[in-house]
Amino acid sequence: MGAEDYSPKKLQHHNPYNTTRYKLKILVLVILTNLLTFYIFSTGPSSFNFQPISKYTQHLSLPINWEPPSGLLRELNATHRELTASRVQIAELTQQLKFTNLIVKALLTDLPHLRSPALTSQIGGNSTILDYINSLSHETKLAIGPHKLPLGYSPRMGSDELYPPVGGSCLKYKDELSQYMTYTVGGECPVDDVFAQRLMLKGCEPLPRRRCHPKAPKGYKNPAPLPGSLWATPPDTSIVWDPYTCKNYKCLIDRQNTPGFYDCKDCFNLKGREKARWLFDRGLDYGIDQVLSAKPRGTIRIGLDIGGGAGTFAARMKERNITIITTSMNLDGPFNSFISSRGLLSMHLSISQRLPFFENTLDIVHSMHVLSNWIPDVMLEFTLYDIYRVLRPGGLLWLDHFFCFGHQLNTTYVPMLNRAGFKRLRWNAGLKLDRGADKNEWYFSALLEKPMS
Ligand SMILES: *[C@@H]1O[C@H](CO)[C@@H](O)[C@H](O)[C@H]1NC(C)=O
Ligand SMILES: *[C@@H]1O[C@H](CO)[C@@H](O)[C@H](O)[C@H]1NC(C)=O
Ligand SMILES: *[C@@H]1O[C@H](CO)[C@@H](O)[C@H](O)[C@H]1NC(C)=O
Ligand SMILES: *[C@@H]1O[C@H](CO)[C@@H](O)[C@H](O)[C@H]1NC(C)=O
Repeated sequence: MGAEDYSPKKLQHHNPYNTTRYKLKILVLVILTNLLTFYIFSTGPSSFNFQPISKYTQHLSLPINWEPPSGLLRELNATHRELTASRVQIAELTQQLKFTNLIVKALLTDLPHLRSPALTSQIGGNSTILDYINSLSHETKLAIGPHKLPLGYSPRMGSDELYPPVGGSCLKYKDELSQYMTYTVGGECPVDDVFAQRLMLKGCEPLPRRRCHPKAPKGYKNPAPLPGSLWATPPDTSIVWDPYTCKNYKCLIDRQNTPGFYDCKDCFNLKGREKARWLFDRGLDYGIDQVLSAKPRGTIRIGLDIGGGAGTFAARMKERNITIITTSMNLDGPFNSFISSRGLLSMHLSISQRLPFFENTLDIVHSMHVLSNWIPDVMLEFTLYDIYRVLRPGGLLWLDHFFCFGHQLNTTYVPMLNRAGFKRLRWNAGLKLDRGADKNEWYFSALLEKPMS
């Protein structure tokens, strides 16, 4: 599947009748709103004063109370002054109406998306997002529904209400969402890590916030101090073990000798393979020091390791005074807790989510095994552009053991990396043999650079 296959086809099939009718409704609503605004402004305390007109009519209707011309003049003078003030107010009001119209226009432009058939089919039926939210449980509605801003319209937001963010597919998995949001407010959260993470992995990311306390590990002790913590196995009491097959660190460390597939199977053994990672430079294995030497000394300072398992890449970088944030999922192992216990920064973030960094900020992004051909091509392309976005000019993308099939290498991934705009500093490809050479599976490692601007 190439990028050109991915056109949001569903979005193109609007029902023009529905859309037009809907727009008409909105238009009527807009006109009514404007009239209402006009009415409110014309009666509100700080606005128009129609007194001059009424006084004027009084005089016309009661010719017996004929006053001397001087009195009438004074009255006329006063009327004139008030009329002038009113004109200024009308000018201000016109400005405000123009502004309102701009907002409404912006809203109208967005409406077709809010009601697109794709979304409608996602959230089921013919409903708008609001209808959908209204059909949710009370606590879910509070968590993700719109909330009026207490101080009113905010020009900064362009709105007077706020929708707390949730992943788009939360709306699709309505039953799971409501199960996730079922708990005692103020009490202990259900131990539903596996369930919640599965929701995240399906695209319900971020999950909504909850008003409950996570179960705390029993007998928690203070963490070990740095730098010893970088290579120490944390105490078992630092973990709530319920969500995992293993119930202690010994089990996690011994896992490498047991059959079966586990993510990052030998990662918890800090005295094994983990100890030597990125220290040597050979073929597909690049050494950290060799990679850093591609840039002036000290200019690689901050970065991100996407899907960084147990955090060893960040530990090695910390020893070089470089700060790395490690994203990791807790796939049948307490990866995030483990990374934190080592004294490193972890983020529970899947590869689907927009990176929570500003553009042109990071010096380096590394990813081993994770960015690979299991990710749909289009998503991977968006991810690569996102990495490009957060890297600063001259920043490095280190793709470490990206795996794919031989035919994909030159037809899919090389062109994709070029499209995203990366420059090649190093490149190595080699057969991946663990499942047999006949599978024609390949690895490539690459050191790429975002061009200097
Ligand atoms: C009306 O206002 C003019 C100046 O704006 C002033 O010269 C005149 O005396 C005023 N007339 C009365 C009756 O207040
Ligand atoms: C959506 O509305 C149309 C027409 O109003 C109706 O025919 C259709 O069955 C509705 N679809 C759903 C899923 O409710
Ligand atoms: C890291 O920083 C500390 C304190 O500034 C310094 O003493 C140490 O030499 C640095 N280490 C490296 C590898 O640059
Ligand atoms: C990809 O292209 C390069 C150079 O164009 C070539 O050397 C390499 O053998 C190709 N790789 C595969 C797996 O086809």
